[in-house]
Formats: sequence, C-alpha cells, structure tokens
Amino acid sequence: MQQKIDRSAISPDESEKLKDKLADNLQVSDGILEIRQILRHKKRFLDLLLLADEQESMINLYLERGEMFALYDQNILRTICVVTNEGDKTVELKNIATDPQYQKLGYGKKLIKFISEHYAGKYDTLLVGTGESPLTVLFYEQNGFKYSHRIKNFFTDNYDHPIYEDGKQLVDMIYLQKRLSNWP
Ligand SMILES: CC(C)(COP(=O)(O)OP(=O)(O)OC[C@H]1O[C@@H](n2cnc3c(N)ncnc32)[C@H](O)[C@@H]1OP(=O)(O)O)[C@@H](O)C(=O)NCCC(=O)NCCS
Repeated sequence: MQQKIDRSAISPDESEKLKDKLADNLQVSDGILEIRQILRHKKRFLDLLLLADEQESMINLYLERGEMFALYDQNILRTICVVTNEGDKTVELKNIATDPQYQKLGYGKKLIKFISEHYAGKYDTLLVGTGESPLTVLFYEQNGFKYSHRIKNFFTDNYDHPIYEDGKQLVDMIYLQKRLSNWP
C-alpha cells in the first residue's frame, strides 16, 4: 500500500532543508560515512565556514565559484570544505572546518584524502593557504602537504580586523602544496 505523506505537517523551513538535502550530490557512502557535494544554499554551513575564515566578506570571494563538500557520519555533519579551480591544473583548498565537538577524530584527514583522490587525474596540484599557526601547518603536513611560498602581510592587508590564533596575530599567508599527479 502506498504511504500517504501529510505535506501540511512539513513546515516551509523543513521543506527547504529537505530540498537542499535532496539536491546535495552523494559522492561516497559506506552506509555510515557519507561525503556529499553541496550544490545549493552553501551559506547554510556559514557557522562552520567562519571557523576557518572568520570574515564573511572573504568567504564570499570564493564560496560560489568553489566546490563544496560535506562529510557526515551517521547523518551528523562533521566536516566541510571548499575547493576552487585556480587554473594551470591547480585546485586550492580554501576552507576546511570540523565541528569543534568532533575535532581530532580523523574527519579532516578523511575529507582531504577524498578531495586528493577526487581531483587527481584532472589536476596536478592541490594548494592550501593558512595563517602561521603551528597546529594548522602540522595538520596539513601530516596530510601530505609541503611548504610552497608565503604572501607577506596577507592577513593585515586583506582583513578588516586583526586575526588571532592561539593568541598570536596572523600576518603572512603560508602556502603549502601537494602533488596530485602521483597520488596516492
Ligand atoms: C584543522 C581542522 C579542520 C582539522 O580537522 P579534524 O577533523 O580535527 O582533523 P583530524 O582529526 O584529521 O586531525 C587532527 C589534527 O589536526 C591538528 N589540528 C589543527 N588545528 C587544530 C586545532 N585547532 N585543534 C586541535 N587540533 C588541530 C592536530 O595536529 C591534530 O592532530 P592530532 O590528532 O595528532 O593531535 C580542525 O581542527 C578545524 O576545524 N579547525 C578550525 C578551522 C581551521 O582552522 N581550519 C583550517 C583553516 S586554514
């Protein structure tokens, strides 16, 4: 027997959320862990995006042109990232953030492994820029990135307020890169 859905029971807000979820494009699933490409309403993840990049106007510069992926474990959102095409067979990881209550559980590593495999073949290099924060730089090094170059005064020139991490003001942007052509 066909089950009847009482559509009046779904609020407009819930109905929009359902439409967003249906539009998300499933990339990987083992029944528990899922990675979805987010195709509409990327701003619904703004809270997480702001963890990695605290000025919304800077996020706006790459969010729409970027490809966004979200990692769910047992249907709970854990980590998101945004990747942009920078030309010359290079993609850049512009933003990656794990919900603070689920950090240090390996979700960031899993999402980086996924995007490394996803873009390998079509692109040669995965770039990432970060502030001079030892923990974050270590995270990228542990995930196969190596120091590439720095952009002097990037944070002081481009952000409308001083950005601090672990009590230290960020000044230069440090770029690290990973070759995708030899992946894995
Ligand atoms: C960086 C980040 C995405 C890592 O995600 P994650 O799911 O915790 O990643 P993993 O569990 O795979 O790896 C954890 C490693 O990240 C490193 N790390 C980087 N920043 C960290 C932080 N703020 N707190 C704790 N660990 C951090 C640690 O070296 C840790 O290694 P360990 O477990 O051996 O101690 C996550 O810490 C985060 O969302 N930070 C805030 C946003 C951010 O700074 N993004 C990067 C912007 S360039």
